[in-house]
Amino acid sequence: MAFPNINPTTTKSWKQLQEHFEIIQDVHMKELFTKDKNRADNFTIKWDDFYVDYSKNRITEETLKYLLQLADQVKLRDAIDSQFSGEIINQTEGRAVLHTALRAPKNYKCMVDGVNVMPEVYQVKQKIETFTNQVVNGERKGFTGKPFTDVVNIGIGGSDLGPVMVVEALQFYKNHLTTHFVSNVDGDHVNEVIKKLDPETTLFVVVSKTFTTQETLSNANTIKDWFLKSAPQDAIAKHFVAVSTNIETVQNFGIDASNIFPMWDWVGGRFSLWSAVGLSISLAVGYNNFDSLLQGAHKMDAHFKTEDFKDNIPVILALISVWYNNFFKAESEAIIPYSQYLNQFATYLQQGIMESNGKSVDRNGNPVDYQTGTIIWGEPGTNSQHAFFQLIHQGTKLIPADFIGFTKSLHGNQDHQDKLISNFLAQTEALLNGKTEEEVKAEGANAKLIPFKVFAGNKPTNTIFINKLTPESLGKLIAMYEHKIFVQGVIWNIFSYDQFGVELGKQLASKILKEFNNTAVEKHDSSTANLLNYYRNLQ
Ligand code: F6P
Repeated sequence: MAFPNINPTTTKSWKQLQEHFEIIQDVHMKELFTKDKNRADNFTIKWDDFYVDYSKNRITEETLKYLLQLADQVKLRDAIDSQFSGEIINQTEGRAVLHTALRAPKNYKCMVDGVNVMPEVYQVKQKIETFTNQVVNGERKGFTGKPFTDVVNIGIGGSDLGPVMVVEALQFYKNHLTTHFVSNVDGDHVNEVIKKLDPETTLFVVVSKTFTTQETLSNANTIKDWFLKSAPQDAIAKHFVAVSTNIETVQNFGIDASNIFPMWDWVGGRFSLWSAVGLSISLAVGYNNFDSLLQGAHKMDAHFKTEDFKDNIPVILALISVWYNNFFKAESEAIIPYSQYLNQFATYLQQGIMESNGKSVDRNGNPVDYQTGTIIWGEPGTNSQHAFFQLIHQGTKLIPADFIGFTKSLHGNQDHQDKLISNFLAQTEALLNGKTEEEVKAEGANAKLIPFKVFAGNKPTNTIFINKLTPESLGKLIAMYEHKIFVQGVIWNIFSYDQFGVELGKQLASKILKEFNNTAVEKHDSSTANLLNYYRNLQ
C-alpha cells in the first residue's frame, strides 16, 4: 500500500472548508453554545481516563464534517495502516517509522524488511530491566565497590528531551538515584553537572542514535577525561554505558560491548524515549514504571489505530489544529499543562512537532503553497497566567491552546488542587466568553477604562482532563501528540520523519570551528566574517 501523496488544497473538502470559513470566521463561540445546549457533550470524547472537551473551538458540526471528510480524502486510514505495518514511510531516509512497536505486546508482529522486529525489541527491554534492577538494587557497583547514587544522561535533542521531560514528570515515582542531564555543548553545562558528582558512585549513560553528534561526543569525552583523573582505565566498563545504533563507534569510544543498548534506525530520535533511549527514565523510576509508560502509549496506539475518526482523540485534535493553521492562519499553539510536573512538556513537544512538521516541500518534492507545522510554546499554569496570558486574552493574535489537567493531585493537597483546577477551568471559560462592554460597565468601571477592560473572548481551547498523572497516563498523553503529528504530516502531504533542516547549521559550525585556529578566514558574508574576527581577536 503506497503512502498517500495528495495535495490537501486540491480536495473537495478543502474547498468546502474554505467556503465554510468565510461564513463562520466571525461567529462567536458564545452564540454556538447558546444555540446548542448539547454542544459540550457532543464535542467531548471520553476514553479510558481521558476526558477531552473540544467544544470551546470555533467549529460547528459542519466544520467537523468537512474536516473528517478531509481526513478521508487524503487517505488517512491507509496512511495509519502503512505506518503501523512497518512500511518505509520515512521515504527520504528510506526507513520505517515504528516507535509504536517499542510499546507493543510481545506477541505482536511488526515487520521491517520482512523480519519481525518484536523479538529484538523484547531482548533490549529485558536488558533494560535487568540493568535497571541491578543499578537500583545496588547489585551493580562502581569501581571502588560502592553502589551508584547518581546517573548522568549525556545526549541532545531526541536523546535528551524525552528523558528529561519524563523524569521530571514522574518525579513523584522516583527512587533514590539522582538523575542529571548534560546536553548543551556549552562547557558551563557539563561543568556545572560535574561539580555535583562523585566519580566513584556515578553512572554515565551516553545516548546518541548516530554516535556522531558533536555536542554529545564532546560532553562524553569531557566527562570521560574528568572521570579518568580519579579512576583507572578499566573502570570505564563499570561506569559508562551507551545507547546507539552505531555499535562500532561506541566501542571505539571505549565502551564495553556488553554495555551497549542497541536501537534501530526505524525509531526516530524525537520518538525514541520508548526505546533504550529511555534508560535514564527506567533507572529513575524503576523498570515497572517505565513499562507502564510504554503500556499507556500502547493503549493510545490502539485507540488511534482502531477508533472511528470522529471519536479518535489524536485525529480530532489534529484536524482542529489544521483548521486554525490553514484557515484562520493561526501561527502558533500553546500547550498549558496545569501540573508543575509537566514543566518540560512544551519544550519536549517543540522538537516533536516542529522538527517533524517544519517542512516546506511536499511529498512530490515541490514547494507547498499552504502553511504546515505550527509553532509550539507553553509553560505550566498557573505560572503562565502571570506571564504571557495577557497576550492570549487581549492581544491581536489567535493562539489556540491545549489545557492539560489532572483531576487528582499526587500529594493529595486538596486545597492547592482545588485552587489549581479552578484556575484551569476559569481560564478556558474566560477565553471563551471574554467580557462585554455591558459587563464591564455593570462592574462600575471608570468610563475611560472601559475599552481596556473589555475582553473579546472567542479564543479557542481544548481541555484534556486526565484522572491522575501516572506513568501510564503520561504514556497515553505523549503518544496522543505523536499521533497528532503524524495525522498533520499526512494532511499537509509532507515527510514528518526527516530533519534535513538541522544539517546546514551543523556543517557551517564545523567549518567555522576550524577557522578559529587558522589565520585566514574563509569566504563568509561580511557580517559573519566580522563577528568571527571579533571573537578570534578576543581569545
Ligand atoms: O537535531 C537533530 C537531531 O538529529 C535530532 O533529530 C536528534 O534527536 C538529535 O539530533 C540527536 O541525535 P543523536 O541521537 O544521533 O545524537
